Amino acid sequence: MESELPDEYDRSPETFHFLLRLLPSQEAIGTVRVYPLKHPDTPTDTGTQKEDAHGSAAAYPTFALGRLCVLEQYRKYKFGHKLVQQAHSFIRNRLLASRAHARDSSSESNEILGEFIIHAQVQVKGFYLKNGYTPFGDIFDEDGMDHQLMRYWILE
Ligand SMILES: CC(C)(COP(=O)(O)OP(=O)(O)OC[C@H]1O[C@@H](n2cnc3c(N)ncnc32)[C@H](O)[C@@H]1OP(=O)(O)O)[C@@H](O)C(=O)NCCC(=O)NCCS
Repeated sequence: MESELPDEYDRSPETFHFLLRLLPSQEAIGTVRVYPLKHPDTPTDTGTQKEDAHGSAAAYPTFALGRLCVLEQYRKYKFGHKLVQQAHSFIRNRLLASRAHARDSSSESNEILGEFIIHAQVQVKGFYLKNGYTPFGDIFDEDGMDHQLMRYWILE
């Protein structure tokens, strides 16, 4: 993670970058980024067919969460959890707001609004499990390291 290089998503207007700062020092101690995955066949996507509980094609958006990092001396104080939570609630609120325009308030609750997909390094799988992610698919190699695809459902 700490060795990741810049890519086209860093400067995309659709990417959201979160920076966690300590107060009152304003020291930046952690970061995470989120961007929408547009095409099911992009290399960063899962390659899986989206289906809802009835096996029909699902119409929810997929977001990639990544570049999560907390400065080494500040790890294990729940700052990583805070960053992931913030990214989740930010995207969820945006999805709820756009849905409010499109639908009336009588719609079902607990419906899937979207999903986050991550490429988790296997040694941090436990962290993501604690943050509500579920593993799927096989372990794969990325940049010489074992990774696991994991998913988090964004519920209404
Ligand atoms: C992964 C990382 C962001 C976690 O941040 P953190 O602030 O230390 O994590 P938190 O304190 O919020 O941990 C939340 C929970 O996850 C657990 N956890 C943290 N790191 C873990 C790990 N590597 N494996 C398993 N569990 C882990 C914590 O013990 C804690 O559990 P608890 O709620 O039962 O106490 C941080 O270790 C980091 O920056 N690592 C280097 C970069 C990296 O690996 N990023 C992810 C790439 S996929």
